[in-house]
Amino acid sequence: MESSAEVHKLKTMLKGVILAGGLGTRLHPLTKVTSKHLLPVGNEPMVFHSVKQLTTAGITDILIVTNPQYVGDFVSALGSGKDFGCEFTYRVQEEAKGIAHALALAEGFAAGGKIVVLLGDNIFEAPIQQAVSDFHAQQTGARVMLKQVDDPERYGVATLDGNRIVAIEEKPIDPKSNYAVVGVYFYDASVFEIIRTVEPSARGEYEITAVNNAYIRRAELEYSLVQGKWVDAGTFDSLTEAHHILSNSSNWH
Ligand code: DAU
Repeated sequence: MESSAEVHKLKTMLKGVILAGGLGTRLHPLTKVTSKHLLPVGNEPMVFHSVKQLTTAGITDILIVTNPQYVGDFVSALGSGKDFGCEFTYRVQEEAKGIAHALALAEGFAAGGKIVVLLGDNIFEAPIQQAVSDFHAQQTGARVMLKQVDDPERYGVATLDGNRIVAIEEKPIDPKSNYAVVGVYFYDASVFEIIRTVEPSARGEYEITAVNNAYIRRAELEYSLVQGKWVDAGTFDSLTEAHHILSNSSNWH
């Protein structure tokens, strides 16, 4: 059993990455004004939630990846990190070529260490802290988080065999389970080498699901289950739901 001082030391060795690029076209015309991730959810810009998930888990070295159009808005909203008790680094993804493409920009920042990656439009009722601790306990490989949903065809969907994930399909027409892979990913340093092997999908994106399937082939993908409600706030309906979740959830954030 690790002492709390050792846990704290481990957590400070983990870095966080928030992916907040992309075009947000499903939220036009709101996203003509600013990034989806800066729209109000609860009483705050959406991205504050991802920042607080990381700082609550003890992660204070955080990279924000955004697009050229909105980077100034992010710096205005988040600043240096002083107000959040953390330190921000910013990188610009020139073209929205997919989540794995955005993550590739984190290689220098990660500097050979383990990272926790959040999609900036994912909102959780409960902290993800336990999954962060589970990842600490893992020597190598990666971890994803799963949530049972009614509409799995909207997401990456995991096929389970006992307590192992044997495959993930991106937005399948005929999902093999109702376990959605949510937008929180834990990776060791080999993620960047894996990203370099990924080819663009039929929709022309470097898919994070391709990266996770590479970890499955190495038998190195673990998972944690999401506690409480989860929403991907990429549409008007889910943005409203995200607002309700954060307005009603207990006050951990
Ligand atoms: O929310 C969970 C789902 O997120 C997963 O189940 C899927 O496997 C995963 O592919 C992703 O699906 P989405 O269709 O929701 O991804 P979306 O294009 O909406 O992008 C999600 C976030 O990733 C977005 O908030 C910003 C970031 N992003 C996305 C793209 C395409 C970037 O930073 N750069 C990009 O080029």
